[in-house]
Amino acid sequence: MTNGGKQSLYNLMQVLLDPGDEVIIPSPYWVSYPEMVKLAGGKPVIVTTEAEQNFKISPEQLRQAITPQTKLVVLNSPSNPTGMVYTPAEVRAIAQVILDHDLLVVSDEIYEKILYDGAEHFSIGSVSPALLERTIISHGFAKAYAMTGWRLGYLAGPLEIVQAATTLQSQSTSNVCTFAQYGAIAALSSAQDCVATMLVAFAQRRRYMLDRLSAMPGLYCPTPHGAFYLFPNIRATGLDSLTFCKLLLENHQVATVPGIAFGADDHIRLSYATDLETIEKGLDRLELFIRQRV
Ligand SMILES: Cc1ncc(COP(=O)(O)O)c(C=O)c1O
Repeated sequence: MTNGGKQSLYNLMQVLLDPGDEVIIPSPYWVSYPEMVKLAGGKPVIVTTEAEQNFKISPEQLRQAITPQTKLVVLNSPSNPTGMVYTPAEVRAIAQVILDHDLLVVSDEIYEKILYDGAEHFSIGSVSPALLERTIISHGFAKAYAMTGWRLGYLAGPLEIVQAATTLQSQSTSNVCTFAQYGAIAALSSAQDCVATMLVAFAQRRRYMLDRLSAMPGLYCPTPHGAFYLFPNIRATGLDSLTFCKLLLENHQVATVPGIAFGADDHIRLSYATDLETIEKGLDRLELFIRQRV
């Protein structure tokens, strides 16, 4: 158990990586992966994926990025920021490359339960016993149970790795505070209707936002099948993502996240982890901003 999914990933990079070890990270990526790799002395190897390939790394792309220094591959499905979800067949194809090159994979499954349109979560660790031996899972309670501030996550994987992470943690943060851990037990052992209820609300907001964005000139947004983000392309506005987000914030008081933080400067990230009324207001302002520029 760790202080959020974040600490599980941090601990992993610290105990696994030696100086110069390469970690393959498909972009767009969650902001902390490359920084955590660098903090541990490793080298992030970024593999760019495009909207046209649904932001999913292909087995060929993965194969090409592998060098004798490669130690670990990062997979995050459903993804923050794109919301894309790998199908079981796609996971199996990536698994084969990992097996062929005897690599480790960290599967960040924190959005596992947040899926739409019949999308299925398929963990790479379940491909085969050989893959399970090479898989480390990072997970947490912040998304499915909206327990973000409780700081609850966990690392699961080969005993040797998890024991090393536990040693590191015992000399730093020790443990997640006990009453929060009881909260995690309650979340896992209680009826799961709350997750289903939340998914209905997320699905409604996602639909509303996609419809609104598709009516805005110059924004292109692929349909995500998981998580609670949209990742529209803003290239047509002629602005880089930092300038776009700064102007939108300062002139219209709408907070979005610049795509450059995720390795994709021609995008912005919108979150729908807020109520529909706020979303409506935010999109009205975004539309006004866009129509002034495109
Ligand atoms: C992909 C991904 N992994 C891990 C985390 C870490 O979550 P936490 O530390 O809040 O459990 C987040 C949070 O936004 C995330 O989006």
